[in-house]
Amino acid sequence: MSVVISKLKEQKQVNGLDFPLLITPSNTDVQENKQTFLNWVADNKEALHELLIKHGAVLFRGFPVGSSHEFETMLDQTNYKNMPYIGGAAPREQVTASRIVTANESPASETIPFHHEMAQVPTPPGYIFFYCEKSATKGGATSLLHSGEICKTFFELDPKFAEKVEDQGVRYIRVMPEVTDKSSAIGRSWKETFQVETREQAEEKMRDAGMRWEWLEDGNLKTETAVLQAIRFDEETNQKVFFNSIVAVYTGWDDARNEGKKAVSTANGDFMDDAVMNKLIQKMDESCVNFEWKAGDVLWINNHTVLHARQPFEGERRILASISFK
Ligand code: FE2
Repeated sequence: MSVVISKLKEQKQVNGLDFPLLITPSNTDVQENKQTFLNWVADNKEALHELLIKHGAVLFRGFPVGSSHEFETMLDQTNYKNMPYIGGAAPREQVTASRIVTANESPASETIPFHHEMAQVPTPPGYIFFYCEKSATKGGATSLLHSGEICKTFFELDPKFAEKVEDQGVRYIRVMPEVTDKSSAIGRSWKETFQVETREQAEEKMRDAGMRWEWLEDGNLKTETAVLQAIRFDEETNQKVFFNSIVAVYTGWDDARNEGKKAVSTANGDFMDDAVMNKLIQKMDESCVNFEWKAGDVLWINNHTVLHARQPFEGERRILASISFK
């Protein structure tokens, strides 16, 4: 296969493999001629997929991908099927008619904590593709972390607690307002969340989703999800992965109605162990790669095995995203 593997200064080795893997053009024709590049992607799509599974993340740098449209055309050369962003919580904007949306548009000053994309829905996407239209003037790295590696760390930190989380699974608990509260990142009203008008309609939706609920004074609704798996086994790479929203919820679900530390529990109602969580979050920051974007970069991530996060930034950073399955 005619790819050139290069080195990236931020990259690290996980299980003896580059993370992320950096691929650069093999010759000036692939670098400059858009059609040659697209043919190259189409000819090598299986090999590229194998590299994605092996390494967890693949960065394409220096190829002729100059716009959202060209990014989409690149993805159209592969066998990945597009998946719409339904059920996700993040604010996004549709960029092209089919595959491309903006990455999470939450405020630049905020860190988006480590997560697998849409880990809270029954069928999350298998693969995420990012494209850098404009890089930030300062900060804005996308952080990448091997889920298998952090899963091992989780079990090493406190085997008993980790086994409890694995055996029982977790519930996410959230109080939703009756009217959307824009000052909060999790402030969507219950009416908007369930796309309903009345309490009866909301209850029907929650019943269908296996949720528990309680109506509070002032029109607020306290919801508890069904029990969801927190540790999964990835058959393709033969490893346990930390596939859940525990860290994002624990660190991020704080607003006038919610307290992150009380927003995630094991099935029997126990909250997360604070000491374990603090150490785990620290380990995540130590083990990850903070990948610095350059305009024109395309990054493929295996969402089954790799977590991502976003660092705060300054300037006009614009990263586009597409989610898929195979
Ligand atoms: Fe994400």
